[in-house]
Amino acid sequence: MKFFVDTADVEAIAELNDLGMVDGVTTNPSLILKSGRNILEVTREICSIVSGPVSAEVVALKADEMIAEGRKLAAIAPNIAVKVPLTWDGLKTCKTLSSEGFMVNVTLCFSANQALIAAKAGATFISPFVGRLDDINLDGMELIADIRTIYDNYDFSTQILAASIRSANHVTECARIGADVITAPPAVIKGLAGHVLTDKGLDQFMKDWAKTGQKIL
Ligand code: E4P
Repeated sequence: MKFFVDTADVEAIAELNDLGMVDGVTTNPSLILKSGRNILEVTREICSIVSGPVSAEVVALKADEMIAEGRKLAAIAPNIAVKVPLTWDGLKTCKTLSSEGFMVNVTLCFSANQALIAAKAGATFISPFVGRLDDINLDGMELIADIRTIYDNYDFSTQILAASIRSANHVTECARIGADVITAPPAVIKGLAGHVLTDKGLDQFMKDWAKTGQKIL
């Protein structure tokens, strides 16, 4: 399973990338706002760090304008995936841009039928939002499993990019189901290394080591 980082924080991306944890990056208008940076500048900088797909989201609502924005974003670097919302105009944009050879990430997916039509429109990635479904007491992971089954039934090549990942359990479940990619904030990815028994065990080792009076260096 590939790991994308869901942030426009360049320092956080670079730190994880140095560890080989970054297969790609996703951004959205809210993350651009949080970064305080210009979308074109920060996206260019991210693309200079990461070689995998970097999603940059259009903000127009009509297909013609979305397509123009998508082409401008795609011109930033060859590894841009143009991110479009799962609306009818977004699907038209997906069809046009994917036919032109650009990667397209169809975002804000909340149903299996939406994922089905995104695949038919040529999406490179579909982004079902797990956490936001959980937020309203629906089962985000059930959606990932449904999409996996449907895509496998018909050999769709669209990759399932599980988004709105908020916890280590989400990551485990996505891996179990067979999501192609998860995108998660840096803190969630770093949190995967943590375990209470690791901390407890290390604490004991340190105490016992101190009692030996030895040094390695
Ligand atoms: C990714 O493409 C989405 O923008 C992101 O995962 C949304 O996450 P959130 O629901 O935690 O904002």
